[in-house]
Amino acid sequence: MKTQISSDVRLLADLIRKGGVVVFPTETVYGIGASSYNEEACKRIYQIKGRPSDNPLIAHFSSIEEIKSVCEVSEVAERLLCEFAPGPLTLVLPKKNPNIFPKELSTLAVRIPKNPIVRDWIKTCDSPISAPSANLSGRPSLTRMTDVVRYFDGIVDGIFVTDEPSLGIESTVVGMFEDPPVLLRPGSIESNELKRFFPNLLVPNSFLVEGKTVPLSPGMKYKHYAPKANVKLLSPDAFSSEWNRYGTDSKTAWIGFSYANEEKLESTFTKTNPTRVKIVSSNFEYSTELYAFFESCDQMGIDTIHCETPKEGEGKEGLLNRLQKASEAN
Ligand code: TXA
Ligand code: MG
Repeated sequence: MKTQISSDVRLLADLIRKGGVVVFPTETVYGIGASSYNEEACKRIYQIKGRPSDNPLIAHFSSIEEIKSVCEVSEVAERLLCEFAPGPLTLVLPKKNPNIFPKELSTLAVRIPKNPIVRDWIKTCDSPISAPSANLSGRPSLTRMTDVVRYFDGIVDGIFVTDEPSLGIESTVVGMFEDPPVLLRPGSIESNELKRFFPNLLVPNSFLVEGKTVPLSPGMKYKHYAPKANVKLLSPDAFSSEWNRYGTDSKTAWIGFSYANEEKLESTFTKTNPTRVKIVSSNFEYSTELYAFFESCDQMGIDTIHCETPKEGEGKEGLLNRLQKASEAN
């Protein structure tokens, strides 16, 4: 198949209107999308990804009004959307329009991506865009254009070229189909921000502390976010001692904060091989770099990726969840 790699909103909207599948960037990760009203095209996404058929897709909209036309939007859901949309927030709402994919479900996950050009494209498609993250099922989401082209050129109808994702981990998903609402997937909008809107929000303990994650929404029960290499999640102390033992092994990779403040060690760390060692300075930078680093490690044939636990505070919740899931998959 000839894939149109393009920035032309009209051309890419035409592909969707004709029943095509288009990979597009959002502020979180790349998505692989089709018209939410074209069941056949949506099902093709499952085939391409090897995605289990019981894992529903998020519908991407260009405005709150469009969401209201297909879902029940409660007063608090609307306030939440006004605060965080467009942005990395997905709400699972009761569905009003039964024709929207997946037809058999009474709920719909909705989100408005941040990039105005992507929203313009969705509007031009005359339909919401149902899209999971653009990756093979179970593998890390993609955050770099080069990786998207490597995986999807020749397989999808179009690839949308515009700003690459900046946040690096998938959106926060909140289930609002029953009371109290529940955090289904942590992300960069954190539970303490959401609790301003509903103090009774259910937050699974495993999203906040180190420990095994527990599946909540269909997607969370599957192996996820995992590169081919083994992922080891290590406390700062364990990370340093493992580095001292195995750091010179060219089949190992390292991502974390350690050594960043220790000049001598830092120079050893980065001189070793900068492509298999990544020093980050904040949880935010860690999230942005994580999946691209996983992808690069797989291309280099790395056996084990050592990941230091995130720092306490902002940006920890979603990042820790992805690191835990990736390390559990070993
Ligand atoms: O940042 C993101 O959310 C990216 C970009 C492309 O928007 N998308 C994404 O989609 O990560 P996906 O399919 O990889 O993850 C969607 C999650 C899954 O865990 C899925 O089970 C859950 O949302 N989900 C979707 N529809 C649902 C529904 N009706 N009820 C409960 N969970 C749902
Ligand atoms: Mg995904």
